[in-house]
Amino acid sequence: MMAEWDSASAVRGGDGWDALAPVWMERVGDSGDPVRAFLLDPVTLELLGEVRGRQVLDGGCGEGRFARLLARRGAHATAVDLSEQMLAPALEEERRHPLGIRYLRGDLADLSALATASFDAAVANMSLQDVEDYQGALREVARVLRPGGQFVFSILHPCGSSLGVAPDLGWEYTDPAAPSSPRRYYKVDRYFERRRSAIPLWRDVAICVPHHHRPLSDYTTALRRAGFLVRDLAEPAPDPDLVAQDPSSWEKFGRIPYFLVMDAVRLG
Ligand SMILES: C[S@@+](CC[C@H](N)C(=O)[O-])C[C@H]1O[C@@H](n2cnc3c(N)ncnc32)[C@H](O)[C@@H]1O
Repeated sequence: MMAEWDSASAVRGGDGWDALAPVWMERVGDSGDPVRAFLLDPVTLELLGEVRGRQVLDGGCGEGRFARLLARRGAHATAVDLSEQMLAPALEEERRHPLGIRYLRGDLADLSALATASFDAAVANMSLQDVEDYQGALREVARVLRPGGQFVFSILHPCGSSLGVAPDLGWEYTDPAAPSSPRRYYKVDRYFERRRSAIPLWRDVAICVPHHHRPLSDYTTALRRAGFLVRDLAEPAPDPDLVAQDPSSWEKFGRIPYFLVMDAVRLG
């Protein structure tokens, strides 16, 4: 399932996302996917706290769903993404139903269009793992945050992404020939090998997007060096009722942590 990253044919993440954008709009779009709705959004919003009246940056905003969610809660949202095709529907939606969101095309590792210390908070939902220069991105997010500003970001949990992140890649099944048979365990290996790969998000779509596997400590070290203090972290898991209602969708998310959400504060 997992193809190796081909740096000659991929321009730092933009290409894959440009190609995938129409499929993303069809399958995720404005309503978000169930993983976002049930696992990521509640935790991210809880860690962010009250956003009303705050200047909030959404880094790697994609088609703008979370920036709209922030704006509807009263935040002054600015949203940045590298992919022109992911941003296009965001801009179109803002034109049709204005929420005052400022969209910019750009790399999280170069936010020079944004003023220093101009944000109260920043979020990056499932985007930092795509970013090649994640250390530069963390430095830039720190620069645009005011001292005491907050940065909440989610990534695929590094503990499970070392063997790749295509659906179910690390699971061992009771019947190895039948991925619908009960899962035995999730295998983790080569955790400390930093690796960039190109991954398909859906089994039936042959478009790959970038993913960087990094040990968790790479993120915490880079956060500290960029001037952040990690205040909290969360590993969202589904409610047991949700698992009971639809085990084929949710059982795996209740067995191991698929996602990590971190809450860091920009030190003064
Ligand atoms: C998995 S999508 C997440 C989109 C949105 N945050 C969400 O959760 O629905 C990752 C997004 O990160 C963007 N991205 C990747 N590398 C980036 C970079 N270096 N700078 C800014 N955005 C980037 C991609 O274009 C893509 O839209």
